[in-house]
Amino acid sequence: MCGIIGYTGEKRAAPLVLEGLKRLEYRGYDSFGIAVVSDSDLWVWKKRGKISQVNPPVLRRKGRTAIGHTRWATHGEPSDANAHPHTDCRGTIAIVHNGIIENYASIRRELEGRGHTFRSETDTEVIAHLVEEHFWGDLLSAVRAVLPQLEGSYAILAVAGGNEGIVAARKESPLVIGVADRACIAASDVTAILEHTDRVVYLEDGDVATLLPSGPTIWHGGEQADRPVRKVDWDVAEVRLGGFAHYMQKEIYEQQSVFSSTVRALYAEPIPDVLKDFSGITLVACGTSYNACLFCQYLIEEYCGIPVRAEIASEFRYRTPPGGDLVVAVTQSGETADTLSALKQARMHNHPTLAVTNVLGSSITRLADYTLFMRAGPEISVAATKSFIAELAVFFYLADVMGGGRLRKSVLSGHEAIGEALLQDISPAVDLCRGAQSIFFVGRGPFFPLALEGALKMKEITYIHAEGYAAGEIKHGPFALLSHKTPVIALSPPGETFPAMVSNIREMKARGVPLIVIGDGNSQELRDIADVLIPLPDGDMVSAVLGAAVLLQLLAYRTAEALGREIDQPRNLAKSVTVE
Ligand code: G6P
Repeated sequence: MCGIIGYTGEKRAAPLVLEGLKRLEYRGYDSFGIAVVSDSDLWVWKKRGKISQVNPPVLRRKGRTAIGHTRWATHGEPSDANAHPHTDCRGTIAIVHNGIIENYASIRRELEGRGHTFRSETDTEVIAHLVEEHFWGDLLSAVRAVLPQLEGSYAILAVAGGNEGIVAARKESPLVIGVADRACIAASDVTAILEHTDRVVYLEDGDVATLLPSGPTIWHGGEQADRPVRKVDWDVAEVRLGGFAHYMQKEIYEQQSVFSSTVRALYAEPIPDVLKDFSGITLVACGTSYNACLFCQYLIEEYCGIPVRAEIASEFRYRTPPGGDLVVAVTQSGETADTLSALKQARMHNHPTLAVTNVLGSSITRLADYTLFMRAGPEISVAATKSFIAELAVFFYLADVMGGGRLRKSVLSGHEAIGEALLQDISPAVDLCRGAQSIFFVGRGPFFPLALEGALKMKEITYIHAEGYAAGEIKHGPFALLSHKTPVIALSPPGETFPAMVSNIREMKARGVPLIVIGDGNSQELRDIADVLIPLPDGDMVSAVLGAAVLLQLLAYRTAEALGREIDQPRNLAKSVTVE
């Protein structure tokens, strides 16, 4: 949610900051802006819209320090005025901010009472005016004086005309500093830094830093703080498109190696102690990660006989997990605000905690007792795909190690099913979906969460209304909506759920729906009844689950492509939701 970046070094800063913003655009893309600093001046340029659509004149400025922002609107509509950077009354100080200043309204009233003139509706602008009141040539001191007045969350970068370097501050919003050769880069996440360096420092909550070309100096609570420089194991090639039309397509096709890297890495580590002493599991997550948790519920209960509940992270505060439960927070980014809050709450109630995440150094890793990492590499597309498969990989691993090793062989060969699914021709199914106004996804047992995820992918990138249902539940209401205009995608693998699924499929077919079945390719019954039958990879439950997950992603992707949608940056959405 909002991306920020700052560069200070020996090169011209504005073009580098613009490139960095393009890397961060998946965090928000309704407007963007850049501030460039020279020996005595500050230039600010900002605009509503996407970065690719304009060529900012500020790029001509020669300053070697600049900050930039790409926005996902919270306070105030997307507009030129509300875009960051925000400046003080005199236009000498510029601020970019990710997060929310909760007490901004009262601060603004006070500042206006003292004669400050505001130009935007944002919460952020108050920071620029507060800094102005404390700025007498020392930007670090001014920012430090202001921070105690701010309630809420922030990652802030501040610059001032004639002032060397950048001042950065962090509280509950991600901020990473890249340490390069004679340059320092601060950004919301490492994807924007990898072009410059793989050596990074993760700021802690409450840290304030000055960034100079020679490196960062970090302060915490008035004292200078030592933060380790870590090496990121992501490669810059992983954040480039590399010949694919979209990041989503690239990420779907990376899933074979993502799945096998994740399971191999997990099996190579000793089983974490946190997995040894609990009576049940409560999983908390949002979005796609939540759907993965719903799947985990079926998996662990079946293979380990342990009670598992999956909770939407933003609802967790209204529930009480049973005492003795291990609370597992699942988040690709490691920064989703609701998931972080849920984990904090679990800690407050003394639950042991485990994080499952894809991002080294992310906030969740600092909160949980223990972290299991997926090995998905950077995920750029707003619609999550490879992180879902990596989350399934973690859950298969957990079910296996806690359930006595019964799944190991299937898990270690799971990537083959992904490869098979990627080779399927799904064009006839895309043709049925692309004209639809509404699509229903149905499944039973562990395939019900997959139906939910299939519907989520379809709606977020095609804008076609889509709903996931437990197949048995669709009779209890949604049947009223079924017609020849509402395709149904039915997940019907061989096994326990097959006979009941076939009955449900027949009932829906009798209402005239166009029927796409992703299921048992050997079933004559399915072949007879389906308008399109997409066979699942042969094999066991693990293969069927992975195959179905990939086929649903491909169906959404190809339908969105056929409709000419902006696949990697769907309207109104953002990759990393760092506000509650
Ligand atoms: C946003 C993204 C989704 C993602 C969800 C949870 O809504 O657009 O793709 O599933 O956040 O993200 P997390 O990083 O916590 O898994």
